[in-house]
Amino acid sequence: MLIAQLSDTHILAESSDRPEAGSRAEDLRRCVADIMRLDPQPDIVIHTGDTVQTGAPEDYAHLEKLVAPIRAKLYATPGNRDHRDKFAATFQRGNEPFMHHAFEDLPFRLIALDSIEPPQNKGAFCADRLRWLDETLSAAPERPTLLFMHHPPFDMEPDYLRGYLNPLDRDALANVVLKHDQVRHLFCGHCHWISRNEWAGTAVTTTTSVARDVRKGVDESRYGETPIYQLHQVAVDGTVTTETRTAA
Ligand SMILES: [Fe+2]
Repeated sequence: MLIAQLSDTHILAESSDRPEAGSRAEDLRRCVADIMRLDPQPDIVIHTGDTVQTGAPEDYAHLEKLVAPIRAKLYATPGNRDHRDKFAATFQRGNEPFMHHAFEDLPFRLIALDSIEPPQNKGAFCADRLRWLDETLSAAPERPTLLFMHHPPFDMEPDYLRGYLNPLDRDALANVVLKHDQVRHLFCGHCHWISRNEWAGTAVTTTTSVARDVRKGVDESRYGETPIYQLHQVAVDGTVTTETRTAA
C-alpha cells in the first residue's frame, strides 16, 4: 500500500489578494500534479490538516478545485486553521462533535484523530476523545492500524514545545496508544518540518508544509523552489517506510 501525505497547505480563497495566496495554490497544484505522475499510483492520499488558512467557505472552494484531479481517495484530519463544519463538507464527517473517523475499507485500519480546540492554535485531546480512541482500537485488536492527526503529541526541540493546551493530554493519549499493540504508525503535520520519532511504542513521522512560505527546518539549498510532500510505503504488517518527495 502506498500513501501520499499532504499537510499544511494553508490555501486561501481564489479571489484573495494576499501575496501568499497564489504561491500556496501553486505549491499544492504542483504536489497534486506530481502525485498524478506517480507509477504506481498511491492507494490513498491523506491530509494532516491546516488544509486552508482562514476557514472561510471560499478557501475550501479553492481547495476542492486544487485537489479535484486526485484519483485516489483523499482522507483528511483538521488542523487549527480548519473550520470543523466546512472541513466536514469538503472531506468527511467525523464522530461528532469531533472529526475522528475510522476508515475500514483498506487492508489496514486508518484512523483520523481530531486534535483541534478552536480558536486556539494548540492541540487538545480530552477525555471524550480518549474514550472514543480506546473503544475504537479495542474493537479490532488484530488489525494493523495507522493513525493520523494534526498536532504531534510530544515536544520537538527547539521550536515545537508545549504544543498542547494541557500537556497532560499528551500523556493520556500516549497511555491509550501504548495499550494497543496494533498501532504501527502516527502521521502528523502542524510543526511544518520533517521528523521521525518513537513515541508510545510506535513510530511517528511529521512532514513539512506544502506551503513553501511557512515551512521550517527544510534545507532550502537542497529543496529550493520545490514544494514537498511525503510518500509512505506500508508493508503487510503495517510497518511504514517514508520517502520525502519534491514536486517537480
Ligand atoms: Fe500549519
